[in-house]
Amino acid sequence: MPSLKKIAVVRVAIIGTGGMANSHAKRYKDIKGCKLVAAVDVSRERVEKFSAEHGIANVFNSVDELLAWNEFDAVSIVTPDGFHAAQSIQCLKAGKHVLCEKPLALNHADAMKMVVAAKKAGVINMVNLSYRDWPAIQAVQAVIASGKIGDIRHVEASYLQSWIPSKVWGDWRTTSAWLWRLSTKHGSRGVLGDVGVHIVDFATFPAGPIKSVYGKLKAFDKAKGNRVGEYVLDANDSAVMTVEFANGALGTIHTTRWSGGHANRLFLKISGTKGSVEIDSERSTNSYKISAGADLDKAQWKEVACKPTPNNYARFIKSIRTGKQDQPDFSRGAEVQKVLDAVIASDAKGVPIKV
Ligand SMILES: NC(=O)c1ccc[n+]([C@@H]2O[C@H](COP(=O)([O-])OP(=O)(O)OC[C@H]3O[C@@H](n4cnc5c(N)ncnc54)[C@H](O)[C@@H]3O)[C@@H](O)[C@H]2O)c1
Repeated sequence: MPSLKKIAVVRVAIIGTGGMANSHAKRYKDIKGCKLVAAVDVSRERVEKFSAEHGIANVFNSVDELLAWNEFDAVSIVTPDGFHAAQSIQCLKAGKHVLCEKPLALNHADAMKMVVAAKKAGVINMVNLSYRDWPAIQAVQAVIASGKIGDIRHVEASYLQSWIPSKVWGDWRTTSAWLWRLSTKHGSRGVLGDVGVHIVDFATFPAGPIKSVYGKLKAFDKAKGNRVGEYVLDANDSAVMTVEFANGALGTIHTTRWSGGHANRLFLKISGTKGSVEIDSERSTNSYKISAGADLDKAQWKEVACKPTPNNYARFIKSIRTGKQDQPDFSRGAEVQKVLDAVIASDAKGVPIKV
C-alpha cells in the first residue's frame, strides 16, 4: 500500500452541485487546512451558480475533465446514488482521497469494489453517514461500550420523513432531487437506500452488527399511472425490518416518507439488562436520555448533555492531513450496504435472510 503524503492545505473538489453539495461547501469553509478549488456537475448552469455562491474558481462538467486538470487532492462525491461507485473508483485510481455520500453504492458487491479500490490506492476514504456528527450518537455508543446498561436485549430505531404527503420540503412532483429518489431506473433504492442506510448505521454503530433480517418494502401509489414524466415511481417509500443482532438482541428498524408531522426524525432506544438509553432528534441531538442505576426501579429517566464531536468533513480533512484513517470509512459503508441487500432479498423471498 502506498504511504500517505502529508498535506498542509487539502485542495478539495466537489462532484455534484445540487442540494446536499451546499452543506459540503459550507462545512469545508469552516475547516482550517482545506480549500475548495473546483466543482463538477453535468449541468453547466448549476455548477456555475454553485461556484459563484461558494467562491470556487474552477468548474467542470465531468469527472474526466476534473482529473485531466488534476490540481486537487481530494473529492466530495455528492451526485445521485447510482453514480457513487464509478466516480469514487475513478478518483481513487487517480490517487485522490474520497468522501462519498451515502449510500456508498447501490449494492454490497459494488461497495466492496470501492473498498478494494480504496485499499489499493492507499488513500483516505469516508462515507458521509452524517448523523455520526451528532454528539448524542457518539455518547450513546460510548455508554453502551462502557457496559453501563448491561447486555443489549432490545433495539427500537426509526427514521421518519413526510415529504410525500406534504410540501414540507417543496413539491416532490416538480423537483428532480425528489423524483430521482422515487425511481429505481434513476439509481435509487428508495427510502431504504436513501435514509434506511442512516438508521441502520445509527442503530448498529452502538448496538453492534445485525445477524439476520426480515424485511418488508412498499412503494405506494402516488401519481397517475405511477409516473411523473421520465420518472417511474417504483422505488420503495416505506421499509420495515425485524432484526436479530450478533449479540442476540432483537430489534425493529423502520423508515418511511409518509410520516406526516415529522420532517426528519431519527429515534433510537437501546435497552439492556441494566437499563435503557434513548435519542430523539426532535428533542435534542446534543443530549440523550438514560434510565439506569437507581432510576431503573422507578422507571425514571435523566437527560445527559454530550460534549461536541467533529463532523465527518473535519474528520476527512484531518485524516488526510495526519495520514490516519478515521470512521466511518468505506468498509463501514459496505457493511451497512450488506444489511440493505439482505432487506431487499428478504422482501423478495418473504423469509428472514442471514446478513
Ligand atoms: N448525508 C446526508 O445526510 C445526505 C443528505 C442529502 C443528500 N445526500 C446524498 O447526496 C447525494 C446528492 O443528493 P442531492 O439531494 O444533493 O441531489 P440533487 O439531485 O439535488 O443533486 C445532485 C447533483 O448531481 C448532478 N449530477 C448528476 N449526475 C452527475 C454526474 N454524472 N456527474 C456530475 N454531476 C452529476 C446533478 O445535476 C445535480 O446537480 C445523494 O447521494 C444523496 O443520497 C446525503
